[in-house]
Amino acid sequence: RLPDDHVIVICGATGDLARRKLLPGLFHLANAGLLPTRYRIVGTAPAADALGDEEFREHARQAVAEFGRAAPEGPSWRSFVETLSFGAADPGDPAPLLAAVQEAERAVGGSTRRLFHLAVPPVAFGSVVTMLGATGLSDGARVIVEKPFGTDLASARALNDTLHAVFDESRVFRIDHFLGKESVDNILALRFANGLFEPVWNRDHISHVQIDVPESIDIQGRARFFEGTGTFRDMIVTHLFQLLGFVAMEPPPRLDARSLREEKTKVFRSLRTLDPANVVRGQYEGYRDEPGVAPGSDTETFAALRVEIDNWRWAGVPFHLRSGKALAEGRHMVTLTFRQPPLRMFPATAPDGTTPRPGTLAIDFDDPGRITVRFLAKEPGPDMRLGRAEMVFDYAGSFAQEHTLEAYEHLILEAMLGDQSLFTSAEGIDRLWEVSEPLLKDPPPVEPYPKGSWGPDSIHRLVRPHHWYLPDGR
Ligand code: BG6
Repeated sequence: RLPDDHVIVICGATGDLARRKLLPGLFHLANAGLLPTRYRIVGTAPAADALGDEEFREHARQAVAEFGRAAPEGPSWRSFVETLSFGAADPGDPAPLLAAVQEAERAVGGSTRRLFHLAVPPVAFGSVVTMLGATGLSDGARVIVEKPFGTDLASARALNDTLHAVFDESRVFRIDHFLGKESVDNILALRFANGLFEPVWNRDHISHVQIDVPESIDIQGRARFFEGTGTFRDMIVTHLFQLLGFVAMEPPPRLDARSLREEKTKVFRSLRTLDPANVVRGQYEGYRDEPGVAPGSDTETFAALRVEIDNWRWAGVPFHLRSGKALAEGRHMVTLTFRQPPLRMFPATAPDGTTPRPGTLAIDFDDPGRITVRFLAKEPGPDMRLGRAEMVFDYAGSFAQEHTLEAYEHLILEAMLGDQSLFTSAEGIDRLWEVSEPLLKDPPPVEPYPKGSWGPDSIHRLVRPHHWYLPDGR
C-alpha cells in the first residue's frame, strides 16, 4: 500500500514540531520505503522566518541528526534531501509558496496530491487556512491539523467553520498522536479479532475502568503554552477521551474510517456531561515558581475525573481518568477491573490478612506495549490459599519491532493514504467540548500535590468504593 504521488507542504517548517517530529518522521518513512514513488516536500513559514532551499535542507539535516532514528547520510539521505525546497508565505504575499508548490508539482510530474501539514501556532491557524483557500492551493488537497483544537465549544466550532470553509471534512485529518501508537490500535485487535475478550467487555463483567497517563516530566519550561491550557485541555479532552472512545466503542460493522469514527462518536454522544464535583484539579508544588507562571496561577497540572457512559454496554461502570505532570512515573495504562464472581467460595481474606484483589486486564501502551491479565490462582501447598497471578503479553518479546512506526510517522502515512480511521472528527470534538462545558465554566479550585506523588489525596474519594491502580497493578 503506497500513497499516490505527493507534494507535502509543511506549514511552520522552521518550528519545533517540524524539527522534532515531521522532518525526522518523513525521513524514516522514506527509509522504510513507505513514501510515494515520487514526492516533494515544501517547507513554508512567514517571510520573517524564510529560509533558502539550501538552508532548509541544512535545517532538516540538523533535525534528523538530533531527533531521527537514522543518521542523515549516505544515498538514502541524499535522495531525500533533494526533495526538499522552501517557499515563504505571508497572508498578504503567498507568491513564493505558490511558486515553490508549482515547481515541486512539475518535478513530480503527472497527477500529484497535495497534503498540507499545519504545524503552526493556534493564532496563525485561521490566516493560514484562509490563505490556502484564497490562493487555490487547497484545491483537491488534504490537510493535517494539529491540536489544540479549540479551547472550548465556541472556539472549536469557530475553528471547524474556518476549516470547513476551505476543506470539506473528508479532507481534514486532525491529529491526536495517541491514536498513532501501535498498542492503541492493538485495542481494536484485542477486542474484535478474538472471541475471548469481547464477550466480557461490558457492564455485566467489568466493574470499572481506569485510563491513566501519569507523566514524570514537569512542564519543561513550556509555561507560556501551559498557563493558557492546563492538563484538562492538554491531555484529557484530547488524548484520554480518545482512548476512552476506543476502549468503550461498540464493534464497528467494518474496520473502515467511517464505521470507526461513527462508533467512537456514539460513545462521545453517550458520555454524561461532566459534573465538576467529579473532577479533581491539582497543581504540583513549585509550579507557581516556574519562570513565566503567574504567582497566583490557577492552572491545573493534574486532572482526575470520574465519567459515566450512559449506554447499554456501560451504564453504571465508572471510568476513572487521570493525567498530570511531575508524578511518580510516566506511563500509559488502561486497566479494566472484572466483577467478583457471584458466589464467594474462598475466604474473603488471605491468611496474611489482605483481601485478594479482583482480576484485571491492563493494557500498557508505552511503546512497544504490553497486556497483563491479573487473576487469582491457588498458591501451592496443603491449604486453599489464593495468590495473585499474571499472564503477560509483551509486544517486544512477541513480535519483531523493525516495522514499528512512531505515532507521527504512522499518522502522516495514513493521511497520505487518505484513511481517516485514526483521526478525530468535527462531530466528535464538538461533543467532547460540549460535555466539558460545566467544568470549564465552573472549575473546582486547584489542590497542591508534591512532585513525585500520584496527585492530591482527594482523588481517592472520587472513585470510592473502588480505588486507583498503580501501573504495576497494586
Ligand atoms: C502532548 C502534550 O500532546 O502529549 C504534552 O501537549 C504531553 O504535554 C504529550 O507531554 C505526551 O505524549 P506522549 O506520547 O509522550 O505520552
